[in-house]
Amino acid sequence: MQEEIINTKNEALAQIMEAGSFQELEDLRISYLGRNGKFTTLIKKIKELPSSRKKQAGISINEAKNTLLRALASQKNHLKASARVWFDPTVPGILPQIGHLHLVTQAIEEITRIFTQIGFVRVRYPEAEWDYYAFGGLNMPKEHPARDEWETFFVDVPHHPKFGQMVLTPHTSSGQIREMERTRPPIRMLNIAKCYRRQSDVSHYPMFHQFEGLVIDKNISIAHLKGTLDYFARNFFGPKRVTRLRPFHFQFTEPSFEVDVTCGVCLGKGCKLCKGGWLELGGAGMVHPNVLKAGGVDPKVYSGFAFGWGVERTYMMKSGLSIPDIRLLYSSDLRFLKQF
Ligand code: PHE
Repeated sequence: MQEEIINTKNEALAQIMEAGSFQELEDLRISYLGRNGKFTTLIKKIKELPSSRKKQAGISINEAKNTLLRALASQKNHLKASARVWFDPTVPGILPQIGHLHLVTQAIEEITRIFTQIGFVRVRYPEAEWDYYAFGGLNMPKEHPARDEWETFFVDVPHHPKFGQMVLTPHTSSGQIREMERTRPPIRMLNIAKCYRRQSDVSHYPMFHQFEGLVIDKNISIAHLKGTLDYFARNFFGPKRVTRLRPFHFQFTEPSFEVDVTCGVCLGKGCKLCKGGWLELGGAGMVHPNVLKAGGVDPKVYSGFAFGWGVERTYMMKSGLSIPDIRLLYSSDLRFLKQF
């Protein structure tokens, strides 16, 4: 008898837990606890038992009935709760937020793609670099006033016996000598790296990126430089944009130029944004013979050109973008970054 009670209870419990509707629960209640239910039948059997077992059987049946009543109530509550959050499996899910590459990374990828298409090879050189590569080897001897242009961060470590003090690269031109030491002409280098200068305002940030082109071969002329810059301007800024060279001075190029690109709004006519029709991109020039010599290249046999521009600055001049402050790029403000 005891065993029969336990089995009936377990069988009922299993079905109650599985029940998916109020109707099913009601049917289960009737078939186990109702007037003709299984437990009523069990109760009727008590009188057939020897009197010593009757009491225990009565207690067990009552306990089992109480357990089932509690299980019915709890399953009912459970059904009620899940009925409240109605679930429609055909509703499209909520998409997780998907990020994207940072603007500067996007710009670097685009610049790399444009230059590698015409045979430039992207390289990386140290960003904590010796004075010699950043200045000395670039025709800027110690104490030369031209060094003041690069508001340099110096690293407080012992000086190199030959290469001098350690600095954070203030420009990617430090890669020029490194590249000539690494390989021989013909050279078509694209060095994109972080640069550091002690400056901060709407168009300057203490850490920024430059991309530097260096081409060295026989008979390289200013025409090659101009052609390369126009090729870049068309591909990066748009088919109608062209560049112009303005005479300038750098110690490591001769002659030296500042490169301008036609304004994206007026295409060179002159407007409120650009005033004269042109926007300033950055520096360029023909590699100075002393720099070629420092890199072990014979200036009587080879010539070359170089250019070095800010990635952020160049990107901010792209048609259709109006980014008023370079510092926004590094603010990690999602409201800003999500726009791109
Ligand atoms: N390194 C120069 C700068 O940071 C740019 C430059 C590069 C100029 C190569 C000439 C040739 O301003």
